Amino acid sequence: MRPGRPDDLPALLELLAEEVRKDLRDSVPAGAYLRRQMVGFDWESRSRVIEEGGCPRAMALVTARETTGGPVARVEVAARDQADRTQLLRWGLGLSRAAGAQVCQVWQPLGGSEGMAELGLVATRPFWRMDRPDLDDLPGAVLPDPYRLTDGPPWRVTAETYNCAFEEHWRHSPLSPDLPPEPPQPLDLRLLALTGQGTPAAVVWCEVEEHDDTVDRRRQPVGVVGVVGTVPGHRRRGLAFALAAEALRRLRRHGARSASLYVDGLNPTRAYEVYRRLGFTIGFEYEVFEARWQGDEARPTRRR
Ligand SMILES: CC(C)(COP(=O)(O)OP(=O)(O)OC[C@H]1O[C@@H](n2cnc3c(N)ncnc32)[C@H](O)[C@@H]1OP(=O)(O)O)[C@@H](O)C(=O)NCCC(=O)NCCS
Repeated sequence: MRPGRPDDLPALLELLAEEVRKDLRDSVPAGAYLRRQMVGFDWESRSRVIEEGGCPRAMALVTARETTGGPVARVEVAARDQADRTQLLRWGLGLSRAAGAQVCQVWQPLGGSEGMAELGLVATRPFWRMDRPDLDDLPGAVLPDPYRLTDGPPWRVTAETYNCAFEEHWRHSPLSPDLPPEPPQPLDLRLLALTGQGTPAAVVWCEVEEHDDTVDRRRQPVGVVGVVGTVPGHRRRGLAFALAAEALRRLRRHGARSASLYVDGLNPTRAYEVYRRLGFTIGFEYEVFEARWQGDEARPTRRR
């Protein structure tokens, strides 16, 4: 086992593609997403590679983020066999704990619980990718009175609205109003609903991703709805539905031919029902496993 390096990325992408073909993960991250994730990534301490004949045959990456409940790490492993996967997961969990994480997450495809319990990982909740196979016959997107649509708001306003809408969300990571996303989002794909007084009430943003169509079965490019959030006090008035429908319309204008989004299968505000009404169905099911160490304040969760 050795630390990874930036020039291992092509091998990592190949391992991820193999896992997609075997239905072990939903997709290979698109170029823009991966670039964002890997900016400033500490390969030396946060990645490991198992090689065979000079070629990586398994890789692990450990990321960490601050949440309102404390630091949460995630170990991502791409491997061809279970023994390598277990070895890398054990390494990643050890690193996460030593680096001060209170929780470490491992995302497995539904039914992929082999070896999890031995590593101290407990199934916590389902997480779904929901897909719309095309962008035909989109529902109307009229905001209820007295709300109005605006697009391209300053990042600060967008981030503050997001933080307010997601405050109660499971493992919420607040966004910094001072750090706009890199690369910049197309401004017309960043939508807000405003009250009659101009106060932000709901936010949606989305982007177009191009995936390798020899690996990914969705019609390309895919419009990914990244965020849908309505500020408490403005919920259950149809804002999320209308704003997301408008986002889908714009994604189609930007060339997207299908759409996807990711949702917590135990979302207490039942976001998946809004997505179902917009024509999305479950395309891939993950199970999120967690190891929890001292200091985790999260409320216990359970499967429905
Ligand atoms: C999930 C979320 C975005 C929904 O926002 P919203 O603006 O309340 O959504 P809508 O009003 O379009 O729909 C919500 C429900 O209200 C109902 N509704 C819509 N207009 C209504 C009205 N005038 N009167 C009563 N109910 C109404 C809808 O039918 C829907 O019911 P359903 O859940 O049974 O399908 C919001 O609750 C939220 O921000 N949650 C926290 C963040 C989050 O989890 N986001 C999703 C992450 S994937």
